[in-house]
Amino acid sequence: MSAVALLKNQMQRWSRRDAQGRSFGPDISHQTILYLEDITVSFDGFKALNALTLYINVGELRCIIGPNGAGKTTMMDVITGKTRPDSGSAWFGQTINLLEMNEPEIAQAGIGRKFQKPTVFEQHSVFENLELAMSGRKSVWPNLHARLSAQQRENIDRVLETIGLQGHRQRRAGALSHGQKQWLEIGMLLMQDPQLLLVDEPVAGMTPQETERTAELLTSLAGERSVVVVEHDMVFVRSIAKTVTVLHEGSVLAEGSMDEVQNNPKVKEVYLGE
Ligand SMILES: Nc1ncnc2c1ncn2[C@@H]1O[C@H](COP(=O)(O)OP(=O)(O)OP(=O)(O)O)[C@@H](O)[C@H]1O
Ligand SMILES: [Mg+2]
Repeated sequence: MSAVALLKNQMQRWSRRDAQGRSFGPDISHQTILYLEDITVSFDGFKALNALTLYINVGELRCIIGPNGAGKTTMMDVITGKTRPDSGSAWFGQTINLLEMNEPEIAQAGIGRKFQKPTVFEQHSVFENLELAMSGRKSVWPNLHARLSAQQRENIDRVLETIGLQGHRQRRAGALSHGQKQWLEIGMLLMQDPQLLLVDEPVAGMTPQETERTAELLTSLAGERSVVVVEHDMVFVRSIAKTVTVLHEGSVLAEGSMDEVQNNPKVKEVYLGE
């Protein structure tokens, strides 16, 4: 890509403007990409989230840990519009009220979510999976082999390189290992260029080598975007974590460096009591 094209591409990304030039991305002028305040979610009177307050900074890699049932997945459901809270507020940057949007609108605004089970198109090649995930191409299955622009090709190549699957571009996705499928799915999310990426238990079922590679991948993604990782594997969390948030019974129990939270008496009690 030429320097000018690169710059133009960057500017479009930062401003996230639609074809009419209207801005639709988050206003991150206060360096905070996500504000969750006093979020409560009840299921039949049981509070899965209980006045949860949490902030995520622009470009940070945040790990969320906590025992089973702490509310980690429910928190992601709230951010992505899958679950509506009973009360509280959720803002994407300064101006985007997530509680007024549905799931596709939230994805379009720049929040990508990776579920635990990979959902790639097994019959299609790695390259085609990324092509299908490209903004606006999902609805055009018959046009799968329509000509891609040079820029679209470059975007796919860049993502292939990021997820380490350059050498597998023509392979059927169904033939990939579990770890490679997970990376491909992360790649599919990257095709949408999310500013905030939510990943729920990414290394479950991975080999130690795949786990290590995933740590590198998620670390490399932060900075350019914000990444929130929920994970039970403490060795993995320790290897990537800067700030760790511990959830317990739907609220934040502790927040800090891995060492700080692991030495926190309240955290010790919760984990020992499991
Ligand atoms: N749709 C639902 N209906 C009823 N209860 C639910 C629903 N979704 C979640 N819960 C309950 O809310 C609590 C929080 O669940 P959640 O899945 O958010 O926990 P988690 O922290 O992701 O746990 P895990 O580490 O096991 O994935 C649990 O007690 C769960 O049973
Ligand atoms: Mg969960």
